[in-house]
Amino acid sequence: MAYTVSKLTDYSAAALEKAAAECLRACADESAGVGSDAELKTFRDRWVGRKSGMLTQINDLWLKGAPKNAKREAGIRVNELKTRIQELVERARVVHVDSASAAGERVDISLPGVHRPIGAEHPVIKTSREMVAIFQRLGYSVAEGPVVETDYYNFESLNFPPNHPARDTQDTLFIAGQQAKAQRDRLLLRTHTSPVQIRTMEKMRPPIRIVIPGIVHRNDPPDASHSPMFHQIEGLAVDTNITFGDLKGTLDHAMKEFFGSSVKTSFRPSFFPFTEPSAELFISCIICGGSGKRGPDDAPCRPCKKTGWIEILGCGMVDPNVFEFVKDNGYDPKKVSGFAFGMGADRIALLKYGVDDLQLFFQGDVRFLRQFA
Ligand code: DAH
Repeated sequence: MAYTVSKLTDYSAAALEKAAAECLRACADESAGVGSDAELKTFRDRWVGRKSGMLTQINDLWLKGAPKNAKREAGIRVNELKTRIQELVERARVVHVDSASAAGERVDISLPGVHRPIGAEHPVIKTSREMVAIFQRLGYSVAEGPVVETDYYNFESLNFPPNHPARDTQDTLFIAGQQAKAQRDRLLLRTHTSPVQIRTMEKMRPPIRIVIPGIVHRNDPPDASHSPMFHQIEGLAVDTNITFGDLKGTLDHAMKEFFGSSVKTSFRPSFFPFTEPSAELFISCIICGGSGKRGPDDAPCRPCKKTGWIEILGCGMVDPNVFEFVKDNGYDPKKVSGFAFGMGADRIALLKYGVDDLQLFFQGDVRFLRQFA
């Protein structure tokens, strides 16, 4: 009869020893019977298969079933047994391979090798890296932060007070089961990279210049221009006497570096809780050159919706209320000022490469991705 793991009722050292010995003997006996590749596989699956292999069963029946006071001893025994069984399985494999090659199987060195393509950077990552590099050349350093964030960093310290309607614009994915915690400690998937502004200001005193690449999540169903996971690049500069002029000059330079020197920029008033004043930055459409029309028959330009301008990012001067949260680390809003900006790397990659469906970036189809390698 084939060996099966049975429940233990007696957890004394002697009983454990007996059960372990019986199990090992069965394993050793079965290993002696391994002849073919198929048998080796069956043997391996039966003993160390993850789902219902003997080791898994032993774990379930002997360890999980052990009474509290026997848990430690049983744990040690089971671990020993595990090691021995894994050794037996490995030995069976080695013996099998040896005997197969002794039986005349040879490596045919004239066969072409297995081609392992190296792979290439994903277009979104490449875009993000290029944008980050532009800011690094301006003296910015790279900062990063966690994707699972607290309400405090994602919202409160960015001047979104609890229950403020501005939170609704962020379509947040909350982590379940957080109700027992104070609101500011509740976990969520960060909806933007802006929390890393505060996290960095807590650690580094002014002046700072940082650029923050990272993934963010929103409760948006996937379509041609939305994805529940996407990539942002954030920036923050804080010093004495930073002005809106610095913001405009920096971003105008970055856009020209990235899209080409003929690109024009336009700043239009907007609102974000953590900047005041706030703006959206538009660039002249890189597809139609700003005319809103395409081709000899003046077809309407789709990417800019005939306007000649494309929205690229949100930005503004850091709101004094944000500095209040890090005041003790040198960010007295009376003494320092700063600007911030945040852009979507995926959207910029769409524009740069003339791709019309965001989903293509996330489906992992090598035929699509290979074009950017
Ligand atoms: N965090 C904003 C968003 O995801 C984007 C943003 C706007 C970032 C303005 C900024 C900023 O740093 O100043 O919608």
